[in-house]
Amino acid sequence: MAESILDRFDAVQVEELKVDSDKKLKVGIIGTGWIAEAHVHSYAKCPDVEIVALADLVPGKAEKFADDYGIDNVRFYPSHKELIDNEELDAVSVCTYNATHAECTIYALEHGVAVLLEKPMCVTLEEAIEIRKAEIKSGKVLSIGFQPRFDENMKMVKKIVQSGELGEVYYVQTGGGRRRGIPTPYGTTFIEKETGGIGALGDIGCYSLDMVMNAIGYPKPLTVTGYVSDFFGKNPKYMPKPEYAEKFGVDDFAAGFVRLEGGIILDFRISWAMHLDTPGDSLILGKNAGLRIPSTGCWNGSIGGPLKVYHDVAGKQVSTEIPEAKNDGDNFDKKIRSFVDAVKYNLPAPVPAKEIIYNQAILDGIAKSAALGREIEIHIPDLD
Ligand SMILES: NC(=O)c1ccc[n+]([C@@H]2O[C@H](COP(=O)([O-])OP(=O)(O)OC[C@H]3O[C@@H](n4cnc5c(N)ncnc54)[C@H](O)[C@@H]3O)[C@@H](O)[C@H]2O)c1
Repeated sequence: MAESILDRFDAVQVEELKVDSDKKLKVGIIGTGWIAEAHVHSYAKCPDVEIVALADLVPGKAEKFADDYGIDNVRFYPSHKELIDNEELDAVSVCTYNATHAECTIYALEHGVAVLLEKPMCVTLEEAIEIRKAEIKSGKVLSIGFQPRFDENMKMVKKIVQSGELGEVYYVQTGGGRRRGIPTPYGTTFIEKETGGIGALGDIGCYSLDMVMNAIGYPKPLTVTGYVSDFFGKNPKYMPKPEYAEKFGVDDFAAGFVRLEGGIILDFRISWAMHLDTPGDSLILGKNAGLRIPSTGCWNGSIGGPLKVYHDVAGKQVSTEIPEAKNDGDNFDKKIRSFVDAVKYNLPAPVPAKEIIYNQAILDGIAKSAALGREIEIHIPDLD
């Protein structure tokens, strides 16, 4: 029995496109902080890509970044606007903090430039709607930077649900996070309201949501009851520097109860810091079987153990462990390569904003419901 189930989850072979390096894609990087390094490393593995320009608001930061990572023959700009106005670009990576995702992305799309936008999509649903409108108007590729989409175990979660093994899905639990893990490795851009916009909710919550929402086909969120807190971020004893507690302006823990189209319930909780090791595994319950996805500090391409499907066989309650899959290559490289291919060959966005707008709607709904102290309805206009 177990073998026949596992057979159904065999990896689908994806045909790789041959790289034609005669015409090089001209790419600009907006924001030269922490994650920009991963972008330039992965672009460097694409012989058909040339990084031509870097922009950062902090004077000298883009120049130092180019020096540090040996990027030659690039031009430097003090913001996304100058970079886009002065360069003939095919694409940009938007690697800025969350609060400027929307303005950089919209400006690039309005100027006919394709965008690979780092996660989370932005801060509010209103911004996400404006991004989608700009994307549709421009006809350019916009992909959101969820590298876990390329992870074999994350793909397996989707394959299991889509195989029909679980039957009709009616309840999903997700979230996760860590006991202590407020991100301040390079300063305070994640924890200040003006730059991060949202905290754990957006930073790692968006991954958990994408894992399960992608698996169940991104049903539309309808209503949400949300909760956020900041008991650790605001307390100097839990911060690496006391002044960080004063600057802390986002959530370090969030929870939400969401009704999705199709009568599905989504129960969500996420933590940068709490007095507990984990807020639990992710679960997908269907009428025929249930799936357990063991907890991790962040579902950005890792699982805390093998996936398990719980089902009945001839009246007996059994479970099937799905062996952990090994990745062939790096997920971040795949995220960059798939974006480059989409731009070059006019393919659909690998991680479409049309889906991720629902992810953003849930994050935003949790924040807004928490601020109001009651359940709210989510309204997402049909834009296509
Ligand atoms: N995919 C991943 O694994 C991953 C990992 C870490 C961070 N991220 C995401 O990447 C984004 C950036 O994170 P980070 O850690 O690199 O942040 P960071 O604060 O280290 O760097 C962001 C940089 O963007 C610059 N910037 C902001 N607005 C700008 C503008 N309009 N024009 C030019 N430069 C601008 C800032 O000056 C800063 O140097 C965040 O949204 C984060 O969630 C993704």
